[in-house]
Amino acid sequence: MSTALVTGASDGIGLEFSKILASRGYDLILVARREAVLKEISATLVAEHGVKCTVISSDLSKPKAAQALFKTTQKEGLQVDFLINNAGLLHNGFFTQLDLGAQENMMTVNMLALTSLTHLFANDMASRQRGHILNVASLAAWMPIPNQNIYAATKAFVLSFTQALHNELKAAGTGVTVTALCPGYTATKMMDNPQQGAKLAIPDGMMQSAADVAEQGINACLKGKATWIPGFANRFTAAITHLFSKMALARLAGSFYRKNLSQFSSQ
Ligand SMILES: NC(=O)c1ccc[n+]([C@@H]2O[C@H](COP(=O)([O-])OP(=O)(O)OC[C@H]3O[C@@H](n4cnc5c(N)ncnc54)[C@H](OP(=O)(O)O)[C@@H]3O)[C@@H](O)[C@H]2O)c1
Repeated sequence: MSTALVTGASDGIGLEFSKILASRGYDLILVARREAVLKEISATLVAEHGVKCTVISSDLSKPKAAQALFKTTQKEGLQVDFLINNAGLLHNGFFTQLDLGAQENMMTVNMLALTSLTHLFANDMASRQRGHILNVASLAAWMPIPNQNIYAATKAFVLSFTQALHNELKAAGTGVTVTALCPGYTATKMMDNPQQGAKLAIPDGMMQSAADVAEQGINACLKGKATWIPGFANRFTAAITHLFSKMALARLAGSFYRKNLSQFSSQ
């Protein structure tokens, strides 16, 4: 029986990763901050699929959270065959008006925790000559995005880091594959969360389901792909970014975001 660890398993795409993996017979380690929510999800997955589920509450914005999480899995004798670095957060808005601490937390969760977990578990997997890692980036990784500039930069980091590491691990014959998943707009709470600063209105028809994104990500990772962009429209968007200079892309994205960003009504 293989075991998968999913960060950000309490909601959105992470919850869908967990459901799909349980339905395929994976034992699970569910990680997020909200322990009570994870316990409920765990009880449902155990009842529905007869898999083993371990819940680990962790705030990945805290210093050395990744190291503590890795240590917990080791102490509990849990061997991770499939790591999904999915936890992430988004802040929209005008750079100088956004709270700096919140931006720092976003950078820590989206980049530092993901990198540390990849390092710790990739080493462990390489010692067994097998394992899969799926790092959740975004279509935002493919261009500079005004009014979402740090988020897009964190995802550009994830994409670049993962593509380079994919080649490195393959060339060294480690038996470990690593894949960057780049979803476009996906229907989760992330798209409608007052904590994120400003709300982005997404035109009809541009939103994918979290279940579809998760399924495509898992399949691409198990096939050992370096990068996967779910959905034809998203793949087309990523492809045409190569036709423009970065500053032209920033101008295009900037005018789209300025037109479609608004404050949450509760603010
Ligand atoms: N939705 C989209 O349109 C979209 C598009 C492209 C890429 N993505 C990426 O997909 C991933 C999942 O996003 P989503 O849309 O599913 O978001 P979501 O519904 O808001 O879920 C985010 C998950 O991350 C966890 N999380 C947040 N902060 C955390 C922290 N400090 N420590 C540990 N866990 C934390 C949350 O759990 P707790 O609150 O319980 O901690 C939750 O389970 C993210 O990396 C996101 O950037 C999303």
